[in-house]
Amino acid sequence: MHVRPFKYWKKNKLLTLAGLITFIVIPNLFFKPTTGTQDTNKNKVSSSAAQCQSCHQDIYNSYLKTAHYLDSRPASASGIRGSFHPDSNLYSFNLFMQVSMLKEGNRFAQSARFNQEEMQKQYFDIVIGSGRKGQSFLYWKGNQLFQLPISYFTATNSWTNSPGFPSYPYFERPVPLNCLECHSSAARKVTSGDAVNAYDKASVMLSINCERCHGPTKEHIDHHLLNPGEKEGKFIVNPASLANREIRMDVCAVCHSGIRQHKRPPFSFKPGMSLKDHSVGLPVSNKPDTLDVHGNQYGLLAASECYKSSAVMDCSSCHNVHREEVNDPALFSARCMTCHNTEKKNFCTLETDQINLAENCIDCHMPVLPSRKIQLSTAAIKKVQSDSIRTHFISIYREQTKKILERTNLK
Ligand code: HEC
Ligand code: HEC
Ligand code: HEC
Ligand code: HEC
Ligand code: HEC
Ligand code: HEC
Ligand code: HEC
Repeated sequence: MHVRPFKYWKKNKLLTLAGLITFIVIPNLFFKPTTGTQDTNKNKVSSSAAQCQSCHQDIYNSYLKTAHYLDSRPASASGIRGSFHPDSNLYSFNLFMQVSMLKEGNRFAQSARFNQEEMQKQYFDIVIGSGRKGQSFLYWKGNQLFQLPISYFTATNSWTNSPGFPSYPYFERPVPLNCLECHSSAARKVTSGDAVNAYDKASVMLSINCERCHGPTKEHIDHHLLNPGEKEGKFIVNPASLANREIRMDVCAVCHSGIRQHKRPPFSFKPGMSLKDHSVGLPVSNKPDTLDVHGNQYGLLAASECYKSSAVMDCSSCHNVHREEVNDPALFSARCMTCHNTEKKNFCTLETDQINLAENCIDCHMPVLPSRKIQLSTAAIKKVQSDSIRTHFISIYREQTKKILERTNLK
């Protein structure tokens, strides 16, 4: 969900006009009835985490509930969040063009219709997104991977035109390797003409597994199987032990610093390496009003006073990635207070007796803001809605503070 908003439809609010214009601009392709292949293209979820279970039972159990583990998987009834019920399985672009989400046995399809006639149908093969914010869906055509036109938007619990897609059912968006680099554990490209999205299907490993943050694990497992008395972990990267903070941050920044320009192929970066040899990020502005808060937690945090003034702060100062820890402001606030407390004389300087500051530092200092990049239209005629992202630019937000204090006043 990382593409610029497609503003085109905004200008065409009138139903009929939208219908007419899209009628003219739709590529011919759309009018040739085509249907996805019937063979099942089952992709595998990386099974490597299961190899850690016997020796790291607690971490393994809690990791299975995290957004990283659930981030990508084969399409299934339990994996797809949107509804296939006849009341709510339709996305209408306008009076003439619709996409229906269909359940056919244990397969799921998106069927595009023009004036009630089916023009194209493709099956959901891969789900991207745990569903915290939304999900996008991919399908195979031969060995090429494409994104389906309709996505799911959690905030409204509804189907939506995929972010950045045109205002007609578009099945031709290729899925490049950098998408899989951030949303899976492995994938190998193959040469097939000039296609950017041809893969060795068997190489695609879904989910974000332990290796993405700990590097190769074979030697570690072999060593500890042979030496059960060994108390110290060997032949494995523990990000906490990487002495250089930049290298430590890079473990997360490979996926959490926005779209990057590659110098080396996607997936060649391994934890412990320096990310700047692999790819470069786009510059981040540290002015709060110009920040784009999507997917660049690294850039925003790095621009914050906390980060700049502390030599040790990294993502683990606030996150334990082996656990699912959401909607627990008191827990995160306790982590702020490891550095900000009355003993150190750098606690919050806001003077108020209305609220207990310690319960929720984050809604005042790291508020949830609308993303400027991710905008979704949930129905063709309604307003565009922004996705909301928790900013990692830690600062003083007087507007948010005012709202929160006003809200408590009303109670
Ligand atoms: C045969 C047992 C065994 C298996 C299997 C195993 N480990 Fe370990 N691992 C250990 C032991 C023992 C330690 C040291 C004690 C500890 O930190 O828990 C360790 C430590 C670690 C550490 C910390 C290293 C450090 O320097 O602090 C990491 C990270 C790790 N293991 C990851 C993994 C991952 C990922 C897997 C699965 C791919 C895995 N381990 C599978 C036994 C095992
Ligand atoms: C391989 C890419 C990748 C790496 C490496 C990675 N992440 Fe993520 N992370 C993601 C993606 C993709 C999501 C969105 C998952 C979803 O909801 O589908 C995510 C989600 C998250 C979330 C939100 C989950 C929640 O439960 O709210 C946190 C926090 C997070 N990552 C922290 C980290 C930290 C800290 C590191 C480094 C130690 C890291 N990530 C490394 C790709 C990655
Ligand atoms: C540079 C890494 C990167 C690339 C490339 C990337 N993503 Fe993401 N994506 C992320 C991260 C990180 C998040 C979580 C961001 C957050 O919560 O702020 C995310 C979130 C998402 C989500 C929402 C997941 C949820 O459950 O909330 C979807 C859906 C998604 N991406 C789809 C895609 C698709 C499809 C592509 C490729 C066509 C893609 N992304 C390319 C890193 C990336
Ligand atoms: C998103 C990145 C990420 C993923 C995925 C991940 N880890 Fe970790 N792991 C970390 C980080 C960061 C640390 C260091 C935490 C700290 O600062 O103490 C760590 C530390 C560890 C440690 C040593 C410290 C401890 O808590 O005992 C073990 C063992 C470990 N991880 C095992 C695993 C296993 C097993 C898996 C998969 C089931 C896994 N990790 C998945 C990022 C990750
Ligand atoms: C690793 C230590 C550390 C952690 C954790 C930490 N901070 Fe900070 N923070 C600092 C340091 C150091 C400064 C610089 C000022 C100072 O010395 O107090 C700072 C500055 C600030 C400022 C002033 C920002 C500005 O632009 O002037 C605010 C507000 C703040 N922190 C809030 C928070 C909140 C809220 C959290 C938790 C979400 C947090 N901090 C977590 C170390 C930390
Ligand atoms: C000072 C504390 C702090 C640090 C450091 C920090 N985070 Fe966060 N992060 C938070 C808080 C608080 C939330 C909101 C948790 C919730 O869902 O309630 C959050 C949420 C997230 C989310 C989910 C965003 C969303 O909009 O749902 C991602 C992804 C994430 N963090 C990644 C990272 C990464 C990567 C790093 C390191 C570059 C990092 N964080 C460093 C405090 C921090
Ligand atoms: C209701 C909103 C709100 C809450 C809750 C809140 N703060 Fe603040 N905080 C503010 C505002 C506003 C200021 C600026 C006060 C001023 O200068 O008038 C501030 C100031 C600060 C400063 C000093 C910044 C500087 O100028 O150097 C720090 C550090 C800080 N807060 C940390 C925290 C931490 C840690 C927590 C949680 C324990 C917290 N705040 C809870 C709104 C809040």
